[in-house]
Amino acid sequence: MSLIDKIVSRKAVVGVIGCGYVGLPLAVEFAKKGFQVIAFDIDAPRVDQINKGDSYIPDVPSSELSEVTKSGHLIATTDFKKLKDVDTVSICVPTPLRKTRDPDISYIVKSLESIVANRKEGQLIVLESTTYPGTTREVMLPELEEKGKYKVGQDFYLAFSPERVDPGNQTHSIFNTPKVVGGITPTCTRAVSELYGTIVTKVVPVSSPESAEMVKLLENTFRSVNIGLVNELALMSHILNVNIWEVIEAAATKPFGFMPFFPGPGLGGHCIPIDPHYLSWKAKQSGFEARFIELAGVVNGAMPHHVLTRVNDALNEHSKCLKGSRILIVGVAYKKNVNDLRESPALDLMVLLEQKGVILEYTDPYISSFNLLGREFHSANIAPGTDLSRFDAAIVVTDHTNVDYLGLTQRLPVIVDTRNVFKGITNSKIFGL
Ligand SMILES: NC(=O)c1ccc[n+]([C@@H]2O[C@H](COP(=O)([O-])OP(=O)(O)OC[C@H]3O[C@@H](n4cnc5c(N)ncnc54)[C@H](O)[C@@H]3O)[C@@H](O)[C@H]2O)c1
Repeated sequence: MSLIDKIVSRKAVVGVIGCGYVGLPLAVEFAKKGFQVIAFDIDAPRVDQINKGDSYIPDVPSSELSEVTKSGHLIATTDFKKLKDVDTVSICVPTPLRKTRDPDISYIVKSLESIVANRKEGQLIVLESTTYPGTTREVMLPELEEKGKYKVGQDFYLAFSPERVDPGNQTHSIFNTPKVVGGITPTCTRAVSELYGTIVTKVVPVSSPESAEMVKLLENTFRSVNIGLVNELALMSHILNVNIWEVIEAAATKPFGFMPFFPGPGLGGHCIPIDPHYLSWKAKQSGFEARFIELAGVVNGAMPHHVLTRVNDALNEHSKCLKGSRILIVGVAYKKNVNDLRESPALDLMVLLEQKGVILEYTDPYISSFNLLGREFHSANIAPGTDLSRFDAAIVVTDHTNVDYLGLTQRLPVIVDTRNVFKGITNSKIFGL
């Protein structure tokens, strides 16, 4: 039976490598559609949790996960020899930056080594991890061809398909977000289109893996540059004494040619602060300087410093100084209603505040504890009635929806609001960006 026939008849065994924010929802989606799915991860406790039907990814309810594990459609394993049993492999491993801000594709390379060591002929390999244009063809293809022993489009199929998952988004899930795919050969594109066509409403084929790789980087660079622009306008508006939030809201009433982006305390999450650097790194290899990307990085990276200045101004108004003050950080996740701390601007801000001698505490309904500055922080209880009189100020860094912000204004002397949660409220205690 051909690979396409196996996919169409749901007889294909689907493999997913890396069971994080991207891989676990993907694996569950395939399992829900009736495929036998094997999910691979190097993290044994995660694998155990999956097999118990106990989800650690907020977008995957444990009820959904346990349904597909109980039915036997999804099993997780750390045994990469089982790659021999799968007809398709989607690679969803991390792609961070090195300390030098260069791409770190070592997780992709490790996955590739496992696939080559346990290869099954006729397999479709799809890279989903965000990476620079050329990774699929220049890094993966030669390894999989094994010096001409195997031919792409014939003995195996290879493609790139960027993951577009948006954690915490209640409207757009894998199912209703179009999936871009680009194979090395037309047969590869056909195979990957058939596979993802079983779980998404629309597949968007492009002419090459390079185009598909670049699509993801365009999307995230677009966000990074526009956020950089609006952050700069926020700094400008502060000096001009104009309310940037009001300006954006009014501009957004234009029904064409404008899309709102909002200022904030800095960029966070795995994608936007990191992905554009994959593109600028690759461009640099060809002698091209990606100036917009670099400038957005500088402007966005300076926002925690700007917040520090605003906190200093706010305390000053109350005849206090940063050194020795006790400050409550409200929200440490990188964006609202998620439990993800990766690259969160709250962490940069906390480091800056600590350097100024501030005594720090935080509260976040989604993150009960974390390590920073060599110690463990625990989320402070701010429930109505709890004593908050020890704090000199609070900084709203993440705009989670289930926080009683108005209640805080009655119990804290100074609040710096970096997210406009106090929209429309005039109160001498509240300071904006
Ligand atoms: N999180 C997002 O919102 C998002 C959105 C779009 C794209 N992406 C991209 O998707 C990729 C994965 O991101 P994520 O957020 O799911 O990461 P994650 O850190 O949540 O999950 C990665 C998983 O891969 C596992 N892993 C690491 N090395 C492995 C190996 N060699 N073999 C098997 N498993 C391994 C880890 O244990 C972890 O469970 C990244 O390239 C990221 O840029 C992420």
